[in-house]
Amino acid sequence: MQIIRDLDTLRAAVSALRATGGSIALVPTMGALHEGHMALVAEGAARAEHVVASIFVNPKQFGPNEDLDAYPRQEAQDAAMLKQAGVAILWAPTVDVMYPAGFASTVSVTGVSDELDGAARPGHFDGVATVVTKLFNQVRPDVALFGEKDYQQLAVIRRMVADLDQPLEIVGVPTKRAADGLALSSRNVYLSAEQRKAAVALPDALNAAARRIAGGEAVAAVLAEAVASLAEAGFGPIDYVELRDAATLEILPVLNRPGRLLAAARMGNTRLIDNIAVDPA
Ligand code: PAJ
Repeated sequence: MQIIRDLDTLRAAVSALRATGGSIALVPTMGALHEGHMALVAEGAARAEHVVASIFVNPKQFGPNEDLDAYPRQEAQDAAMLKQAGVAILWAPTVDVMYPAGFASTVSVTGVSDELDGAARPGHFDGVATVVTKLFNQVRPDVALFGEKDYQQLAVIRRMVADLDQPLEIVGVPTKRAADGLALSSRNVYLSAEQRKAAVALPDALNAAARRIAGGEAVAAVLAEAVASLAEAGFGPIDYVELRDAATLEILPVLNRPGRLLAAARMGNTRLIDNIAVDPA
């Protein structure tokens, strides 16, 4: 596996891969890799001859009071995991390579970016859309893999790729969870042992709410109870627990088409998000 930090070397390495024939899958990450990320790599390897992974902690998608400086960085360990999984290239640019002096462009996807995490984290999805577009242009993959863990991010990227005719396929990969149900996340390392135990209330609340909504109970009442159970478990503030259209993320007052329950809440200083499918009977 080649670890590459500048654009000229990347372009040459990607061209060399292409010359061997076969397609290229891209797995964009911010590192601190876990089994969720590795599921994306495995899916990439199943769909393309070559897998390129990127690690870039993207300053443009962190708000001023967010965890950019504290974000876990463990590149040597990440590189070993990626190499073991058969990744051909690890693209790990510096901030100066990604955003040279004078950088002035933003990719902004309206609508699907505006609510939920878009409302809670102003500018976040502009930062994501901008860096993901750059990664697509840098690597020029045939397919890129994104986790359903970040469900709104996946929806934003699908919208962007369709709107801008970006010439690749986007594949969503189901969320990998710990044995107790908590979604794997690089941010889980911020949780104390006690907080980690309490955090299971998040998938528990989503599962219970999904079962009840699919069973025909009134959506608003079920969501209010999910919020109450999160508060009871020690979450707060709770940014949202909402039922949305699974494709457009529009509000779904009644479950009359495929839905997605999405939640974001803080456990201590750590903001956790999760989501699950809810389908009408
Ligand atoms: P990061 O949080 O590192 O996640 C990289 C990819 O791994 C994302 O597509 C995310 O949805 C996926 N992922 C994370 N946890 C997962 C889990 N438990 N199961 C399945 N997939 C999981 O998301 C980002 O980085 C950034 O926003 C990025 C897209 C790299 C742009 O900077």
